[in-house]
Amino acid sequence: MLKGKQILLIISGGIAAYKCPDLVRALRKRGAAVRCVLTAGGSQFVTPLALGAVSEDKVYEALFSLTDEAEMGHIRLSRESDVVLVAPATANILAKMASGIADDLATTALLATDKPVICAPAMNVRMWENPATANNIKILSDRGVGFIGPEEGDMACGEWGLGRMSEPAQIVAALENFFRQGLPLDGTRALVTSGPTFEAIDPVRYLANRSSGKQGHAIAAALARMGSVTTLVSGPTHQPDPAGVEVVRVESAVQMFDACTHALPVDVAVLAAAVSDWRPEQVPEDKIKKIPGAQPPGLSLVENPDILASLSAPGNTRPRLVVGFAAETDNIIENATAKRARKGCDWIVANDVSPETGTFDGDANTVHLITKDGVEDWPELSKNDVAGRLAERIADALAVTP
Ligand code: C5P
Repeated sequence: MLKGKQILLIISGGIAAYKCPDLVRALRKRGAAVRCVLTAGGSQFVTPLALGAVSEDKVYEALFSLTDEAEMGHIRLSRESDVVLVAPATANILAKMASGIADDLATTALLATDKPVICAPAMNVRMWENPATANNIKILSDRGVGFIGPEEGDMACGEWGLGRMSEPAQIVAALENFFRQGLPLDGTRALVTSGPTFEAIDPVRYLANRSSGKQGHAIAAALARMGSVTTLVSGPTHQPDPAGVEVVRVESAVQMFDACTHALPVDVAVLAAAVSDWRPEQVPEDKIKKIPGAQPPGLSLVENPDILASLSAPGNTRPRLVVGFAAETDNIIENATAKRARKGCDWIVANDVSPETGTFDGDANTVHLITKDGVEDWPELSKNDVAGRLAERIADALAVTP
């Protein structure tokens, strides 16, 4: 959600300003660019040097600095962002914003901006409860200013109550929600599985299957881009974590099953992992020794839980839409149609993975979408485009079955 977003962070003079370098790092980790404006009060708690280092940008402080105005006027500064975040927002800056006072760079930028403004207040509990502050919050809320927090807890001044600035992680989550607004999957939750599973034979060896995780990861990324709060449960892969997705890493099918159950309830589950059908019944604590001349050891296998069938079973936590994958090497449509009925899922995305297609580890995929209404043959597409098209279909389906 935050990838490529430009955030103007205005830091006013509260002790919570010490959290701002962490906040900047957390925002940048999610792909946002952050430009900081520091008030005179803010610079008592955090230095421009620290903020400049973590934002890798110039930190703006002075309204009448000739260099700043030549490089970047305060009007441009206030408009070249997707959102203006005031954190910490002191009682003083909130009062100035409510009254339209513009007596430094921060308040001038706030008055001049045409972008959404979100404040994370931080102040002593009495200051927060003071009718003057309450009135200013109401004025600003009525004007469309957004608020994150404050939280209840211990204050730097030794008192306890409402007034702590929200933690950086909460502010990041609130900004992600803000950018989700209006997207087709806003308000939904998604679960995606991806990659292979590894089934231990002993502490060193394992059984696995061919799956790069490219398709599953691309689907998680596409659902998140369309606004769904997405959890990706992934077996071992070399794929980078998709932006804006919560990634839970697992190894075995049993761990994947547990992580999926934990992620419920969701609106849609897309199970694209190539889950091992079986696992060794016994896993010795020590490596099995190769004894020269002796018979190779036998492997006794037991069946793994079927995550797709289990999530598709009727019940309170059944997602509104369950999508399975069918990797087939022959009779693709018949096998996949039978699989849809057997597993009880809503849709099956069937793909031909016979070795000559190069689907495994490749970038392209030719799939057929099997629903209760029949079969749709999709043209050959990149795995990213299959993901985008599937996410659009999912958004349509969820919109008609609220
Ligand atoms: O039975 P098969 O492995 O061919 O079914 C493929 C579909 O079932 C995929 O969506 C896969 O993620 C899912 N599956 C599962 N749990 C298993 C086996 C397969 O979720 N144990």
